Amino acid sequence: MNFRRFHYRTVTSTNDFAKELLYEHNFVVVTADYQTQGRGRNKNRWEGEFGSNVYFSFAMKYENFKSMEEVAYLQGLGALATKYALKDIAPNLVLVLKYPNDVYVKCSDGFFRKISGVLVEHQFLGDLCSSSVLGIGINVNQTSFPEEIKQKATSLKLLNIDSTPDKIVDELIKQIENMFKFYPNEIMLLWEKELNIKGKQVEILGRAKKFTAYGLDSIGRLICKSSENELIFVSSGDSIIYELG
Ligand code: BTN
Repeated sequence: MNFRRFHYRTVTSTNDFAKELLYEHNFVVVTADYQTQGRGRNKNRWEGEFGSNVYFSFAMKYENFKSMEEVAYLQGLGALATKYALKDIAPNLVLVLKYPNDVYVKCSDGFFRKISGVLVEHQFLGDLCSSSVLGIGINVNQTSFPEEIKQKATSLKLLNIDSTPDKIVDELIKQIENMFKFYPNEIMLLWEKELNIKGKQVEILGRAKKFTAYGLDSIGRLICKSSENELIFVSSGDSIIYELG
């Protein structure tokens, strides 16, 4: 895949830089040592130490604009590539995807903690998508986290795995390139399979009822049904709780 690679010491967000660079290039990979305005899904901040972690964006623009259905698979692609990159670096880790596209790891106390998050941002002109940015953050050598996420986050270092952000970025690029050999519908199916959420009980933030997950629809929303047959579509903007693993 023919992409230009850019590395910066400090950026606001690699996603923003990648978006800007698409004015001049069709495919770019942007990495940084530090982000001053790193963001996650749901307007959350994504903060991390200088030089300790992977702050990565892959962006592409489309000659022929695409529909939402045609770009939905990128959420899965980002999560799968991240999981497979980590699995290659540390084959003994038990890694699971959490809907929509977080990567969790089973820690020695039996709890699953988040090691990576993926933020996919599409640029739309009306109904059509002109470009997409896949932002990936992976905790590598950071060992202390802010109070609010201390119990929920981990890093490779905390799992006794020695690596560097550079090594992981190389692996991530390899895995992303490999994922693009698959058809989007194959990635959607693989994403659904790896999420392993079908038939599970799901709690949706802001809703009292419990739901059962039925799988993904064509734009990557999670189809959920209550016991009274109320059907809802959970999107990447919703927060859900369910048993991982
Ligand atoms: C999440 O878990 O909510 C997604 C986190 C995504 C963080 C990455 S770090 C690189 C890229 N730049 C950003 O500002 N965010 C993503």
